[in-house]
Amino acid sequence: MSEVRIIAVIGAGTMGRSIAQAAAVGGFRTILEDILPNALRKAEDAIRAELGRAVSTGSVEQREADAALARIEYASNLEDAARDADMVIEAVPDELESKLEIFVLLDKVCRPETMIVSHTQIQSITELASVIYRAPKCIAMWFPKPPQTSVALEIVRGLETSDETATAAVAVAQRMKREPILLRETPGAITARMQALISNEAFKMLGEGLASAEEIDRALQQGLGLPMGPIAEAEQYGLERRLRMMEYLHKTLGETYRPAPLLEQYVKANKRALAVSR
Ligand SMILES: NC(=O)c1ccc[n+]([C@@H]2O[C@H](COP(=O)([O-])OP(=O)(O)OC[C@H]3O[C@@H](n4cnc5c(N)ncnc54)[C@H](O)[C@@H]3O)[C@@H](O)[C@H]2O)c1
Repeated sequence: MSEVRIIAVIGAGTMGRSIAQAAAVGGFRTILEDILPNALRKAEDAIRAELGRAVSTGSVEQREADAALARIEYASNLEDAARDADMVIEAVPDELESKLEIFVLLDKVCRPETMIVSHTQIQSITELASVIYRAPKCIAMWFPKPPQTSVALEIVRGLETSDETATAAVAVAQRMKREPILLRETPGAITARMQALISNEAFKMLGEGLASAEEIDRALQQGLGLPMGPIAEAEQYGLERRLRMMEYLHKTLGETYRPAPLLEQYVKANKRALAVSR
């Protein structure tokens, strides 16, 4: 397999722009694509601001930041973005139909040797790869949040992912200054599965009336050394998205993952947990 030089990222939202930034800092020529021009403008501003912050904290040197910015191109058309890429990472919203559509399109426009990566929390890379002709060249990567600073990067092999693709994905992750963890396919991978379970448990405790949402969050954040309280984290992630994740984990992994009734109620009522319990 030839060396990866050009990475295209499809979808310039929260994760896509951070992945593009990590790729550019890692020395790859990077093309960031989105269907919405406004998303591209926001992504460009966010990457500049984020690199500026990294320079001010000393984690990146000014000349590295300038070189990274110069390596990023922005595209509003998938074909233009993916045509020359050695690896394409899709980071569009986690809906099966959207991801399948992107995979089929990429299979048509990419060179035969190009690897296709899905940045997904809940879709099966085996299923995504099953609709295209290059399943051995497909793999999933998952940057935990916050993607700018989280070092671990989970890399999930599908049923047909080749050793070559897995090795190349690990090498790309290392150049992005991440610590790759290569794992077998499992719903939610490692971090998302545990994160979902912790916030679901916090909602169960809230439903049992153990304490207020703020107190439960404070206890868990301080007691477990978490970066933020699990209820606040779920709100930031989106309660509806978290409920969908729990439903998926419940369906695939069993009873341990049954969604907390209070989480279901808050989603139905369109309420935020912390606001409701105040
Ligand atoms: N945000 C998180 O907490 C998080 C964490 C880990 C993994 N993920 C996963 O990363 C992926 C992206 O999530 P996000 O939070 O960045 O989403 P987001 O909604 O912030 O961004 C998605 C972007 O994709 C663009 N898009 C939609 N359809 C497109 C298409 N056909 N072609 C090109 N661009 C298109 C949208 O315009 C949007 O800018 C999802 O699979 C998600 O599950 C998200």
